[in-house]
Amino acid sequence: MEEKVLKVQKIKNGIVIDHIPCGMALKVLKILGIEGDVGSTLTIAMHVKSKHGWKDIVKIEDRYLDDREIDKIALIAPNATVNVVEDYKVIRKHRVKVPEIVKGIVKCMNPRCITNQREPIEPEFKTISIEPIVIKCKYCGREMSGEDIVENII
Ligand code: CTP
Ligand code: ZN
Repeated sequence: MEEKVLKVQKIKNGIVIDHIPCGMALKVLKILGIEGDVGSTLTIAMHVKSKHGWKDIVKIEDRYLDDREIDKIALIAPNATVNVVEDYKVIRKHRVKVPEIVKGIVKCMNPRCITNQREPIEPEFKTISIEPIVIKCKYCGREMSGEDIVENII
């Protein structure tokens, strides 16, 4: 039978960030600092069918993520999986997890917060809800959620 569906290509080595909520793939790239030519093959699939509903996928060849980057992804895609691919096989699968303490990866949006003063203190939040995600500043008590978090990821 003629193949009518062109599947998104598998990658040889690199990472596949899967189960990203629809519309968030570009935000994932933004928080990874990927813009312009990154020098590796990048595949973005948006609004593709998954077992349960729809999702975005980002595949980056020859790139790996550190724990801090994985925590950042959790903040915008709490159900994502990060698959490490080697020689076409998935050798590791991390289910991202929203950290209980969000330290040094989000900036407090309160301009008067001590973390935004001249003697900067590393921002720190406690996660008070996961779905939807809400974090609360340890220093000024400001709560942040949704877009506010995405826009303030450091
Ligand atoms: N993938 C890829 N290139 C490879 C291997 C896998 O792009 N060489 C992609 C798959 O297309 C899929 C993701 O990596 O989007 C995870 O692969 P796999 O674990 O094989 O798929 P599932 O079992 O369906 O994953 P899950 O249970 O996490 O949905
Ligand atoms: Zn604050």
